[in-house]
Amino acid sequence: MKASAPLYYGDYLKIRELLELQKPESERVGVEAHDEMLFIVIHQVYELWFKQILHDLNSVLRIFSSERVEDSRVGACVSRLERIHKTQKLLLQQIDVLETMTPMDFLDFRDLLIPASGFQSLQFRQIENLMGLLPEKRLSFGNQSYLARVSPEDRTKLEASEKTPSLFVRLESWLERTPFLSSEGFSFWAEYRRAVETMLEKDRGLILGFKDIDPAFQKQQLDMLERTRGSFQLVLDEKKHAELKGQGAWRLSFPATQAALFIFLYRDYPALQGPYRILQGLIEIDEAWTQWRYRHALMAQRMIGTKIGTGGSSGSDYLQQATERHKIFQDFTKLSTFFIPRAALPKLPEKIAAELSLAYAR
Ligand code: HEM
Repeated sequence: MKASAPLYYGDYLKIRELLELQKPESERVGVEAHDEMLFIVIHQVYELWFKQILHDLNSVLRIFSSERVEDSRVGACVSRLERIHKTQKLLLQQIDVLETMTPMDFLDFRDLLIPASGFQSLQFRQIENLMGLLPEKRLSFGNQSYLARVSPEDRTKLEASEKTPSLFVRLESWLERTPFLSSEGFSFWAEYRRAVETMLEKDRGLILGFKDIDPAFQKQQLDMLERTRGSFQLVLDEKKHAELKGQGAWRLSFPATQAALFIFLYRDYPALQGPYRILQGLIEIDEAWTQWRYRHALMAQRMIGTKIGTGGSSGSDYLQQATERHKIFQDFTKLSTFFIPRAALPKLPEKIAAELSLAYAR
């Protein structure tokens, strides 16, 4: 390696350039608005963290894009997903700092921002697309796609990210390749169905066995039990699964749903620990975005009440609706509906149990 001048902190990190980048609009037009500096710094810091999240997310996507994901790579994905989650926690906390700005402080410069809005954040949209938010699931306002509100250059980048196979898509096909779900002489799902039936019959016995119970309440309990029995069809009956998928109530394919459930149920086996932590990571990331979205919606409400946003949406109302609608890995979260107690789990054949005690690649 060629000898070079010793590195200097400020040069390496481009601190001079970085500190030149905060240019309040209020200063430009000669209006007094002390808090605009905080507003700019917070947004820029967010964008830097979005950059890091994209860096980690893209590396996970690269690993999962190969046809065979080696166990040794699963560990790296687990830690990068964990890092994304930790970063999101930081993003959530930053709202506390921003909220030291009062609504009146914000009003000093708010109108100068119109029509710019976080709604146009390229990196935030890239993260959503690469995670797996579908364009047709997006909440729109003014009958326009989110793409209509960004520059042509950003639009091209966003269209490219919409076409890139997302984390949801990559993980779905990885899950579909899960071995062990059936092997000669053993069908896991037949065993699982029996275990579910036994569990539900036990619950039915309990309800029927209550003494002095109000008959109307008892009937309600039995009806609820039947609904629970029906809900299990999602993981046991491919046709029912297709029906729910067609209605938009479920997104994950049937084999991937079964594989994810199997991983959750038997995660104590060493070979399933990595896959389990990946699924857990997705749930945590999805939950953290929901928390951030909700907190951001509350902050917007506190700052602007029921006014419209600078980007022209209905403001906090739009943000609250998007919070519910823009979840991506909800199917994984809802899988706990189908968990059964460890003691009731079908015992795996020795051969499969032995293989699951070892690492494997698929
Ligand atoms: C005073 C502080 C803030 C207020 C009042 C506010 C308000 C809003 C409103 C009303 C919207 C909806 C679109 C619109 O009509 O403009 C929005 C969208 C958005 N804002 Fe903020 N915001 C604030 C700070 C931030 C910060 C610090 C970030 C960090 C990057 C941010 C990121 C976003 C993003 C990503 C969206 C799009 C959300 C979506 O469409 O799901 N906002 N904001």
